[in-house]
Amino acid sequence: MESLLVTGGAGFIGSNFVHFLMEKTGVRVTVLDKLTYAGNRESLKGVPEDRLELVVGDIADAALVDRLTERTDAVVHYAAESHNDNSLQDPRPFLETNIIGTYTLLEAARRHGKRFHHISTDEVYGDLELDDPGRFTEDTPYNPSSPYSSTKAGSDLLVRAWVRSFGLQATISNCSNNYGPYQHVEKFIPRQITNVIDGVRPKLYGAGQNVRDWIHADDHSSAVWAILNKGEIGQTYLIGADGERNNKDVVELILTGMGQPAEAYDQVIDRAGHDLRYAIDSTKLRNELGWQPEYSHFEQGLSDTIAWYRDNEAWWRPLKAATETKYAEQGQ
Ligand code: NAD
Ligand code: DAU
Repeated sequence: MESLLVTGGAGFIGSNFVHFLMEKTGVRVTVLDKLTYAGNRESLKGVPEDRLELVVGDIADAALVDRLTERTDAVVHYAAESHNDNSLQDPRPFLETNIIGTYTLLEAARRHGKRFHHISTDEVYGDLELDDPGRFTEDTPYNPSSPYSSTKAGSDLLVRAWVRSFGLQATISNCSNNYGPYQHVEKFIPRQITNVIDGVRPKLYGAGQNVRDWIHADDHSSAVWAILNKGEIGQTYLIGADGERNNKDVVELILTGMGQPAEAYDQVIDRAGHDLRYAIDSTKLRNELGWQPEYSHFEQGLSDTIAWYRDNEAWWRPLKAATETKYAEQGQ
């Protein structure tokens, strides 16, 4: 593979993937990104110009997608509306981007016979009880809870159908919660870090018992690269790094890591339909493709992430006030 079309490459995980490609590979990248509220040119700063082209456009624009797909070796599809809270306020953009956008890309990849990798989420499997000894595997039945996760589940099923019906050369990965640089301040970890920097108390939904399985965005990138190169066509791979923590523990780690008392947070209105627990069993990816995460200590990755937000206030500051105004209107 010499060239990749990366959709959503100006978003959080997509931009981390572009930086990963620049450091670890020789591929040239075209990013197709609509630059919604979640996309940011600044996240691609420092990427060599001769290896990156940023095309600002919509993945549901069939003519544009066709032209860009024709001239690439493979498509890696990150673009999505990604935030559960937003999907509860206004689901329509989630349907348009996650379903129609994915359909548009699949049709272009089919027409041009291109390799396709679809980025998805563990949320398609619904949630687990806190005391369930099990974790999600590739065989767990789909059972999404929110407008966001149901549109991601729908997009996964489209990919599976295009493989079976049209022989599309596609793979799918479902990853757990990512953290790291360039994550929008609407999301849990950057919201709390930037609140503490601003002297505002972190906001915990409900009692904070909900568990997420944290993985550093760099480890997500290395897993996607492994699947692109060694994955079996038609297969799904779960990506996770054994990072289960409940939200209360994460808030306390952020507070103490930033020199504040562990209990200096507020409890706010819980999210409607809030998934209780996600947990990934990534045995298939590890055994079949030999992948291993590099960040084995969540505490270390979190501390690096706190340092990144402290050092990169110019990146997040323009997003912060509008994000907090929106949360305040929701009582969160
Ligand atoms: P993000 O919201 O930070 O970035 C999404 C990007 O997609 C933005 O740059 C945005 O401008 C772009 N975009 C949105 N609609 C578009 C459209 N119609 N056309 C072109 N570009 C469009 O999201 P993220 O957290 O980086 O997530 C990226 C992908 O990874 C998503 O598919 C998400 O479902 C998946 N995922 C995320 C996580 C996580 O923890 N954040 C975990 C597993 C999977
Ligand atoms: O599991 C993968 C998913 O992880 C991805 O598919 C989504 O795109 C990504 O946004 C993320 O979804 P979550 O809903 O788990 O992430 P979020 O950062 O919104 O919230 C993480 C947890 O923290 C969740 O239990 C809700 C809680 N929370 C969130 C915010 C913003 C709080 O307690 N307080 C907050 O202020």
